Amino acid sequence: MTRFVTTELSSCAEKLIRGRRATRAFRPDPVPEDTMRDIFSLAGAAPSNSNAQPWQVEVVSGAARERLADALLSAHAERRTSVDYPYSETMYAPVHQERRSAFGAELYGALGIGSGDHTARAAYDAESLRFYGAPHAAFLFVQGDGEARLAADVGAYMQTLLLAMTAYGVDSCPQGLLSFYADTVRAELGVTGGRLLVGISFGYADASSPVNQVKTERAPLESTTAFHDQGPSSESVGP
Ligand SMILES: Cc1cc2nc3c(=O)[nH]c(=O)nc-3n(C[C@H](O)[C@H](O)[C@H](O)COP(=O)(O)O)c2cc1C
Repeated sequence: MTRFVTTELSSCAEKLIRGRRATRAFRPDPVPEDTMRDIFSLAGAAPSNSNAQPWQVEVVSGAARERLADALLSAHAERRTSVDYPYSETMYAPVHQERRSAFGAELYGALGIGSGDHTARAAYDAESLRFYGAPHAAFLFVQGDGEARLAADVGAYMQTLLLAMTAYGVDSCPQGLLSFYADTVRAELGVTGGRLLVGISFGYADASSPVNQVKTERAPLESTTAFHDQGPSSESVGP
């Protein structure tokens, strides 16, 4: 019985975790309010160091979403970027850069944008500040001084939220780019404390859009994970 339940649960987990993927074209239909509350309540079950739950979540929809998208586009046009978490290309090791390039080729290929067409790429990225057409966006702030360990807790919240959305049939795209305009987001939403980690656009995917057919691969298990002490321990080895 236990074995059956475990198998059933792992197969659900496989479907849920592998079923989530970044969506970059949405239909305008809003997510019902009850569903939204269920999703964000479930996401609150995320683990955190000493159960501190150091996240502050700001969700925008309707007119607030419109205003924020306009403000983000203006900030972008005027080059008013402001990051709470510094970003640098140099933080990526060569192997990470290779994975990023492969992903970029896949994404921009699906959009029909050539690798050398920096203008078209930049225009697409700027337009993504309209949340890829999603009717909602959630902004995850790290409370307090936003120290790295607190940010890691909010990362755990982010993934729990993304999976909760998937479980409720809601599609999403985490967008680090939205965090490049932290002051604009803060000013528009009247947020005074914390640091902005990431924004997440969400709603229902436009299944007909080629960009939503992009599938990403993952590195083989052995290249990221080592299992130590796999053999029986000396204590458990009998005569
Ligand atoms: C912290 C974070 C920031 C991201 N920022 C962006 C972004 O700014 N724009 C975007 O289109 N996708 C963004 N993504 C989505 C990733 O590109 C995507 O998760 C990755 O390529 C793996 O694909 P998958 O989510 O479909 O499995 C981000 C994802 C994470 C976790």
